[in-house]
Amino acid sequence: TKNISIAIDGPAAAGKSTVAKIVAENFSYIYIDTGAMYRAITYKAQKANIDLEDEDVLFKLLENTKIELFPGDNGQLVFLDGENVTNEIRSSEVTNYVSIVAKHRLIRAEMVKRQQEFAVNGGVVMDGRDIGTFVLPDAEVKVFLLASVEERAQRRHHENIQKGYPSDLEKLKEEISTRDKIDSEREVAPLRKAKDAIEIDTTSLSIQDVVARIVDLAVERI
Ligand code: C5P
Repeated sequence: TKNISIAIDGPAAAGKSTVAKIVAENFSYIYIDTGAMYRAITYKAQKANIDLEDEDVLFKLLENTKIELFPGDNGQLVFLDGENVTNEIRSSEVTNYVSIVAKHRLIRAEMVKRQQEFAVNGGVVMDGRDIGTFVLPDAEVKVFLLASVEERAQRRHHENIQKGYPSDLEKLKEEISTRDKIDSEREVAPLRKAKDAIEIDTTSLSIQDVVARIVDLAVERI
């Protein structure tokens, strides 16, 4: 058997990270949530009061920023310059602005370089927006997860309520649509299904169903 790469892309809140994490555990692969990296630099820029449209300043900031991802009991842990920011980067303040930071060419080039370094030895499940198209164009398995905005907002809403966070379904729908729009319309590496990616509409599938389909695809290629 060989250590393959599995790329999972799709729009916001499509369940990518939930599914990717379980698939990675199944094969004892490392799991890389690339969205967390864009979130981490956004969080740092916001704390430093940096204009999120200023590509050069953001790039200099990123060059001097260490972002580390570690496996944790409840998913991936994210450390920013040695500080645990796992929860902070999920705030709505970060969520609603991360797509602005992720538009910039220099930021993306640096992130892609770092992500490719994580994957040099294979044995990786990576989720994001441009993994199958740009980060790991040779990944043995490419999946594009889809679900309606309504369904994605509902899932996020229930998740929030379960965790005891305040949640507004209509607002979630709006935020998800806006983020998808910016991510799909940006000039650099927009959100797209890779030509050779398998599309899975998860709207009426359970997490286990989606995991099983991806595991099947991977087993064929290992
Ligand atoms: O996956 P998540 O929703 O945490 O990603 C947050 C944001 O980071 C996305 O909305 C997108 O703007 C950006 N992103 C990206 N490319 C990736 C992963 C995330 O542009 N590979």
